Amino acid sequence: MRQLARRGFAASAAPHMAAEKPANPKTFKIYRWNPDKPAEKPRMQEYTLDLSRTGPMVLDALIKIKNEVDTTLTFRRSCREGICGSCAMNIDGKNTLACITHIPKDEGGKSITIYPLPHMFVVKDLVPDMTYFYKQYASIKPWLQRKDEGDASKEILQSPEERKKLDGLYECILCACCSTACPSYWWNQDVYLGPSILLQAYRWMADSRDQSLPERLEQMENAFSVYRCHTIMNCTRTCPKHLNPGLAIAQIKLLLAKN
Ligand code: SF4
Ligand code: SF4
Ligand code: FES
Repeated sequence: MRQLARRGFAASAAPHMAAEKPANPKTFKIYRWNPDKPAEKPRMQEYTLDLSRTGPMVLDALIKIKNEVDTTLTFRRSCREGICGSCAMNIDGKNTLACITHIPKDEGGKSITIYPLPHMFVVKDLVPDMTYFYKQYASIKPWLQRKDEGDASKEILQSPEERKKLDGLYECILCACCSTACPSYWWNQDVYLGPSILLQAYRWMADSRDQSLPERLEQMENAFSVYRCHTIMNCTRTCPKHLNPGLAIAQIKLLLAKN
């Protein structure tokens, strides 16, 4: 069975691994944990790169470390342009996407600290286990549901006003930055859907082409799925796509009150 560890904060700095003295050095302190060595505690490892020879984004630095300094460093990435959501991690205390986060250019300045997304099980290093998050996503049936089959060869039309209701919702890339910044989600993950999944749930409730609003609302009609949100708004503050999951949750509560 795969070994998993909760992200912890035990830190022991290892010596940095650059061979030459860099012209424009920046130190990256990175969370390390290896499931193949379960007896070893999680630790922080330091790497110093020369920023004059590194791309501008935090993901560029991680890729450079992996390619040139330490091939054992593990993280997810795919698109490198803020579209796939896979490089979500906690950078200097904020959940965000490494590929669209600039490395601060202050010469000789502060180091950058990188952890995996908080309060998730860790698969290895910066890779969180998203299994339960995706199960929650599947639970809201994130697809168009029609009762009236109609003529399958015809498009289901929307007015410009109906289409506009999806703005601010369809752009969500399911990176989980918001859910893992939410204190309610940290402590009630087993029963509370969290801001990311709730924004996705509202995306289908708001879609004029969908015909399952009563069933979608019925799923939320309990003390936990939605009502564990206490409007703390960490979710909206951290979203790297500048979306407002807190507002989407408020809209679901409004629909529940009306129906
Ligand atoms: S507004 Fe709700 S979902 Fe967002 S961080 Fe606060 S409690 Fe979590
Ligand atoms: S709402 Fe924002 S932070 Fe949350 S999953 Fe979607 S894109 Fe990521
Ligand atoms: S690599 Fe795709 S969002 Fe960062």
